[in-house]
Amino acid sequence: MNDFLPPEAAVLRRLEEALLDFLGLYGYSLVATPVLEPTDLFLRKSGEEIATRMYTFTHWNRRLCLRPEGTASVIRAYVQHLQDRPLPLRLAYCGPAFRYEKPQRGRYRQFHEVGGELVGAAGPAADAEVLYVACGALERVGLRGYRLTVGHLGVALQLLSQLGIDERGQALIVGQLEPLARKQADPEAVVQRVALLLGAPEASGEEESANGALAELLARIGPEAAGRLATELLQHASLPLDGGVRSPTEIVQRLLAKAARPDPTPQVRAAIAFLEQLRGLAGPPERALGRLHALLRTYQLDPTPLQEIEEALRLFAHYGPQPGQVEVDLSLARGLRYYTGLVFEIYDDSPGGGLQLCGGGRYDDLVRALGGRRPVPACGFSIGLERTKLALERQGALPAPPAPVQVLVVPVEATDHNAAIAAAQRLRAAGVRVELDLRGRGPRAALRHAARAGIPLAVLVGERERQAGTVVLRCLATHAERALPADQLPAAVQAALAGAGEEDGHG
Ligand code: HAM
Repeated sequence: MNDFLPPEAAVLRRLEEALLDFLGLYGYSLVATPVLEPTDLFLRKSGEEIATRMYTFTHWNRRLCLRPEGTASVIRAYVQHLQDRPLPLRLAYCGPAFRYEKPQRGRYRQFHEVGGELVGAAGPAADAEVLYVACGALERVGLRGYRLTVGHLGVALQLLSQLGIDERGQALIVGQLEPLARKQADPEAVVQRVALLLGAPEASGEEESANGALAELLARIGPEAAGRLATELLQHASLPLDGGVRSPTEIVQRLLAKAARPDPTPQVRAAIAFLEQLRGLAGPPERALGRLHALLRTYQLDPTPLQEIEEALRLFAHYGPQPGQVEVDLSLARGLRYYTGLVFEIYDDSPGGGLQLCGGGRYDDLVRALGGRRPVPACGFSIGLERTKLALERQGALPAPPAPVQVLVVPVEATDHNAAIAAAQRLRAAGVRVELDLRGRGPRAALRHAARAGIPLAVLVGERERQAGTVVLRCLATHAERALPADQLPAAVQAALAGAGEEDGHG
């Protein structure tokens, strides 16, 4: 977790404001939700990847966590307070999120997001808007040379259900796509791990054949006889069948179901192989789309997801400046489980870059899963503030921080302090950022301080000026000095700041 100091904290704030301003142009209005949420909110649909990295704790018997992301919180707030509003509803948000990760460059345990969620709009037109608002917001703050990768979970999910893999298995496999894509995991190890979680026989050799034989025997004698047999066996083994959460019958039924289940390893292996094939075909739309259509035909899969990507990208192109590189990758899975359709990520693509700056996608089941009265389609994105700042820095496009102080007001003697306060207040009322010299160090030392601190202008208030109702305005860069009536000070300072290239507070 980071302490942000001046001027970095101000730069981040500026970035956040500029991104939110841009979202405002598209009708996204700000919501603010607490950083603390019930842990369950993120366990329901966000997935293990996030769940294992949450800061959770128990407080007065309630399981709470620091939010690991904004979407589930925003949708919780929608379900609680906004279900009667006309749809679609465009919501923007910003603020910290917390993930217990191994810290490295661009990966922190507390980071800041700016995001937008478009609630109540289905289909490629809404996907295209969200794609563009994300890219356009990054363009607005000066990002160039970025890559947009677009995927769609529809294809992978179709194939998995065609293979007879249930919802839990689908979630498990999709959850492995990211480590596979990052080459952090060996595909065969993933196959073994997922198959095991889905009930594949654990041991090898003798035990495996014993398991096989058991499944065969159970199938042969039928469920009722198998139930009696298993109960008797367990009683002989004098295992404690009572006192637990489940009744003995339940235990036996679960055991039998597990033993009779066919080994899912071949299906899992086929699924992972297919997903690897999808990744192999990723590329710019003009190259990837044709090949992917052909692959879907081979597997007799519905091409709708691919058509949705095509349509969203076609509309996206009408919005404005396009990313340097667009890529279609149907193996793009993202770390969160709630996605149901088009998903995307934006990367800093400049030399030495590579950071993922933004992620988003469609999640049509989340409103319902979080207690919504009816299913409401939704999609959105979120931009990581620290990573965006790093990328802009590398591209030399980081906006200059505002000069923290524009004018130093210096009382020449202690007796000049009243008049100095009056001059400072006059300037502040005109919106000028003013530091009043409180240390009574005298004009020379005060001017040295101003030069060191990068304060462009100084106002000197002494006995002579007080008598004449004037002040002295001095430019630190040119050493030019002039006396002027105190009531003309704000206009003169603003003119001098504008002349020195200060526009809207930029240094
Ligand atoms: P996410 O990709 O997990 O998506 O996070 C969004 C962005 O937050 C990332 O693209 C990255 O820039 C930044 N980020 C994530 N983790 C860290 C970290 N440990 N340190 C620094 N920056 C980080 C979501 O959170 C979804 N809620 C996006 C979304 C909105 N999907 C639909 N609507």
